[in-house]
Amino acid sequence: MRSLDLTGVVAAALLAGVVSAGAAGYGERPEVGYGKPVADADLVLWNIDIHTPDGGNLPAGEGTVPAGKLVYEQKCVACHGEKAAGGPMFGAMVGGIGSMTKSPRVLTPGSMYPYAPILFDYVRRAMPLDAPQSLTSDEVYAVAAYIYNLNGLVPDDFKMNAQTMARIEMPNRGAFVTDNRPDTHAERCMSDCKPIGTVADAAKPAAAPK
Ligand code: HEC
Repeated sequence: MRSLDLTGVVAAALLAGVVSAGAAGYGERPEVGYGKPVADADLVLWNIDIHTPDGGNLPAGEGTVPAGKLVYEQKCVACHGEKAAGGPMFGAMVGGIGSMTKSPRVLTPGSMYPYAPILFDYVRRAMPLDAPQSLTSDEVYAVAAYIYNLNGLVPDDFKMNAQTMARIEMPNRGAFVTDNRPDTHAERCMSDCKPIGTVADAAKPAAAPK
């Protein structure tokens, strides 16, 4: 019966939630589940989004390049390879800077990310792939210091923390552009709407230069 299958899936999802409730670096997260309102104070413990352009919501903590090398060699190297040069599960996380206009592009945290804190947000949330959200904040800062050091973006004695991370100048920062095609900022029509596919006159793109 379909509904029974679904119950299994929901139970698995809830179990996963309970497991990560004890994850490192977060303190005790409250259990959440259906039918139980979540208080704002509890929600804060689950909100691990980083505001990546300025590092907003980066947690306290700090990590160095040598400490990050240790974390990397224990928890990342099996999939990402020696010195993040690429392993059995994923390609290089080093190099490619300046390759964005070439073919092939080499997309790495060093060459691609516009803001350094993206690496913190991603690693804390998703890595190591087999034990996501198991790293402490210090470990995430350290492994990020190691990866950005391998990319030549921070010196060997760099101390990675909420303040220093947000200040790293990422080489690809200027290459992201706002998508200003008309359909991305069209106002939502709620009544007397034109048929879908009709572009309002004011929003028509300017004629291409001759
Ligand atoms: C079990 C294998 C495995 C382990 C262990 C692992 N990773 Fe990953 N990692 C992956 C895979 C697979 C991806 C690609 C995921 C995707 O694209 O959805 C990935 C992606 C990444 C990315 C994104 C790279 C990019 O180009 O944006 C980063 C950064 C990363 N891992 C860092 C780490 C760090 C740091 C560790 C150790 C703390 C780690 N990983 C441990 C398998 C692993």
